[in-house]
Amino acid sequence: MTFTEAQARHAELADEIRRHDHAYYVLAQPTVSDREYDRLYHELLELEKRFSGLVTPDSPSQRVGGEPLKEFKPVTHLVPMLSLDNTYSQEELREFVHRVQRFLPDERLDWVVEPKVDGVAINLRYENGAFACGATRGDGSTGDDITANLKTIRSIPRRLQPAAGAAAAANPTLLEVRGEVYLTKKGFEKLNAERSAAGEETFANPRNAAAGSLKQLDPRIVAKRPLDIVVYGLGRVEGAPEQPDTHEGMLDWLKRLGFKTPERTWHCQSADELVRAIDELDEVREGFAYETDGAVIKLNSHVQRERAGFTAKAPRWAIAYKYAAERAETRLNGITVQVGRTGTLTPVAELEPVFLAGSTISRATLHNEDYIRQKDIRVGDTVTVEKAGEVIPAVVDVVLARRSGRETSFVFPKACPECGSKVFREVGGDNEQAAAWRCPNPDCPAQVRGRLEHWCSRGAMDIEGGGEVLVRQLVQSGLVRDVAELYRLKPAELANLERMGEK
Ligand code: IVH
Repeated sequence: MTFTEAQARHAELADEIRRHDHAYYVLAQPTVSDREYDRLYHELLELEKRFSGLVTPDSPSQRVGGEPLKEFKPVTHLVPMLSLDNTYSQEELREFVHRVQRFLPDERLDWVVEPKVDGVAINLRYENGAFACGATRGDGSTGDDITANLKTIRSIPRRLQPAAGAAAAANPTLLEVRGEVYLTKKGFEKLNAERSAAGEETFANPRNAAAGSLKQLDPRIVAKRPLDIVVYGLGRVEGAPEQPDTHEGMLDWLKRLGFKTPERTWHCQSADELVRAIDELDEVREGFAYETDGAVIKLNSHVQRERAGFTAKAPRWAIAYKYAAERAETRLNGITVQVGRTGTLTPVAELEPVFLAGSTISRATLHNEDYIRQKDIRVGDTVTVEKAGEVIPAVVDVVLARRSGRETSFVFPKACPECGSKVFREVGGDNEQAAAWRCPNPDCPAQVRGRLEHWCSRGAMDIEGGGEVLVRQLVQSGLVRDVAELYRLKPAELANLERMGEK
């Protein structure tokens, strides 16, 4: 076989493999048996072994390529990646619709509702039809170049599918596609089971697992994670003679180019229809392979979008509707008491781990002593826990029907569990904290730690690494007793702490 002959056969095989990949990974409609697929793939590998010139970067054999990276290079997005405004209430959703209508008076507004996929926002850049660069959202204008990791995801086409027939010229020379990379719910459970069996730390939820996977510098590790993608938007597009003028048209176009788009969308023409659509989505989303945390509502017409415009961080033509709290039942194994930065004693429920609203939780707040008494919550009870989005999970009720009689009442401590000081309680007043017991000792290590953590937190000084673990070490070792002492720390003192070094 000459090189030219091998090259022709290689192109044929590569093409066929790409078509089967698309059918299997994007459409979920396999077109060949595993055996036949393996035969084609094997033949391709054999050719590449004999003629190394055939190993091009976009060959199907190069999904997992190269050596681990040292770091990710920054990539500037050609069009910034914005975020969305959020709402949890139907009332606010209706207000949003009215607001957009006021912007575009006398116009008929069409809307599209999509699942809000709980993953990692990604930008894919195609140059002359070939996948050239993939990046994380980063700060919205610059992200990390994670091309090698994204190449391992088989539902991301390495080449755009050629447009049918005479429209071949319709494929753009430059195309930025936006979407969400996620780990399937099943894949997440499996990955965590494997990690826990290997004594490794488990991921809190599928989104963290997806983000953690994409941060790996070694694509061979990424290739083992069941990552997938849904695309729902565009960035810069050049050289496409005709561009769709609606969101629905755009999704259709992306599908024809070979991408995986949302499996279900709703077309709506009024606030009432939108409310119905998000309720329907709430009913069916359990059955999706990925976690969803809401619905995204978008104006369908691109012309109208342009006129509605943007605020500093989000488009005015779209909004995310987040679903309310999810609930689960689990056993209350014990109650511990935490001391906060202002000395407030908060009872914490130690729970039998349970999967709730996207993550496994083993602790929830019980608010204060009165709350425990009013709800008659006892250790050993089966309780209902609730969580909405980023909010701290809380115990909301006792399942009395599950009570056996062996449960025990909780006696609130009269002394601070951290420093032993006698606790006091401010009764009355108009503040919600009035029902709380407090530790009076400003030097209580828990309070000191709480103040330092608060000082270091993102909303305050945003000191990198200044989280619970480091603060505890600093206080325990006697290096830091107050905020001022943070600024007197010497590199040598820090270097002596666990997991600290020269850098
Ligand atoms: S559109 C300018 N559509 O949600 C509009 N975003 O809270 C950009 N997301 O950063 C976003 N599913 O990571 C859009 N169907 C969907 C989405 C979606 C998930 C994420 C995306 C975005 C975040 C905003």
